[in-house]
Amino acid sequence: MKNEMLQDVERILISAEDIEAKIAELGERISADYDGLNPLLVCTLRGATLFCAQLMKHISIPMEIDFIAASSYGGNGTESTGVVRINKDLATSIQNRHVIIVEDIVDTGLTLTNLKALLSVRSPASLKIATLLDKPSRRRVELVPDYVGFEIEDYFAVGYGLDYKEKYRNLDFVGVLKPEIYN
Ligand code: PRP
Repeated sequence: MKNEMLQDVERILISAEDIEAKIAELGERISADYDGLNPLLVCTLRGATLFCAQLMKHISIPMEIDFIAASSYGGNGTESTGVVRINKDLATSIQNRHVIIVEDIVDTGLTLTNLKALLSVRSPASLKIATLLDKPSRRRVELVPDYVGFEIEDYFAVGYGLDYKEKYRNLDFVGVLKPEIYN
């Protein structure tokens, strides 16, 4: 029963249909851009899992996947601090690999900037970012993701992987959380 979660959502920001269509488009672009390169998708836990799984289905060339869990610590729980700790590292060596970091959202850009720096020292052949959502108005460092599903305003977005206190990740759309839930 998803009703229990739906009642916490103020409105739908991006419908399930629009998300699926956009991910299909991104998958086609990645398939064309990485043809013959056997890219490694680095799925960032936990938010990107749904996006990454759907994206893979639309990548029509050989590829591999691995998982990484990174978290910013020392903050208030809702905002990145920019100090990134790797909680679960990749099992794959990325040396000379064409790596695509897959994220659910780029907000301040601090997590991705630091994660990129951490992975860069392992000498990948290339290192790009695919994100379902991008909030450019919140950026605190210059970071432009290479593949973006949707640019959104500074809403409290949940669903399609995005959580509030670990809830709502399993909604198949992106919605705006009612302020009374997080206030
Ligand atoms: C979210 C998201 C990015 C980061 C973006 O992760 O998945 O990693 O925040 O924020 P930033 O651009 O301001 O750094 P979170 O730490 O909430 O973990 P999760 O993926 O497990 O939800």
